[in-house]
Amino acid sequence: MVRRLVIGAAGQLGIELVLSMQSEFGVASVDISDIRVPDNEEVMRSKFLHLDATDEGALSTILEDGQYDEVYHLAAMLSATGEKKPLAAWDLNMQSLLNILEAAKEGWVKRVFWPSSIAVFGPLTPKYNVPQDAPLDPTTVYGISKQAGEFWCRYYQEKYGVDVRSVRYPGLIGHRSAPGGGTTDYAVEIYDYAVQDQLYTCFLKADQALPMMFMDDAVRGTLELMRAPQDKLQVRTSYNLGAMSFTPSEIGESIRQQKPQFQLEYALDQRQAIAESWPCSIDDSAARRDWGWQARIMLDDMTNIMLKAMTTANETLES
Ligand code: SER
Repeated sequence: MVRRLVIGAAGQLGIELVLSMQSEFGVASVDISDIRVPDNEEVMRSKFLHLDATDEGALSTILEDGQYDEVYHLAAMLSATGEKKPLAAWDLNMQSLLNILEAAKEGWVKRVFWPSSIAVFGPLTPKYNVPQDAPLDPTTVYGISKQAGEFWCRYYQEKYGVDVRSVRYPGLIGHRSAPGGGTTDYAVEIYDYAVQDQLYTCFLKADQALPMMFMDDAVRGTLELMRAPQDKLQVRTSYNLGAMSFTPSEIGESIRQQKPQFQLEYALDQRQAIAESWPCSIDDSAARRDWGWQARIMLDDMTNIMLKAMTTANETLES
């Protein structure tokens, strides 16, 4: 049995990835860790290890004892929170990655997954269909940490043969877990308000297009990349990963097709400047070529799934 450890299992992506691994490979195939206990009973069926991933000693002990085949390192401070605590964001995002790369260099882990982000792009990057090798030009501490992390991953791969794999996620949208501290979080919150028949006040401009992806696609893509033969992977920094691109006004329209009374207004905050620095859409042909990536869920299908799932979840809470 392939043994997996998810670090950052209490986060938005962590919860979804663990749920998917549990159902695809069995609860015993995945251990979970985080600095806080995941607020999800199903996720907690896996063995939980309390861990501050910046603590090199604690992390080394867990990885040396665990001898995992795969480690998914998802712990990070995202773009909006990172701007409020720049040095803490750098510390968490970089130190935890270096700790894991060192453990992999020691041979305690066979394969590592570490996510990068569209936040590595910036004002010098083309706005549309950003190519794989576009200039990286991050304006946030989160983006700077992802840019540096990408090159650390390539360095450990080339210098020490560490098998570390990465994708640049767009904004991720799912209904099984809440996002936290990101600029793209509006695209989850908006559905929450819609199912409660409440007015949503969006912190980004009505026409601010950003690259986005439905969570099930993101999770499937992550597992597909980890299964891909190593010799096919030509990109050892991080793969562009695309699915769809939409604006707050377009997601509002998509919701209104099912909930015509849904109301959306705008009150911009500091996250608008971050969003403006990012591209609108991504060219992911390298991921398609090397490991067969293909997004499946687009905006209206996602809206259907999100509204249905969140309505059911609300009804269960109320009953
Ligand atoms: N979703 C992230 C953020 O908004 C981008 O990777 O910070």
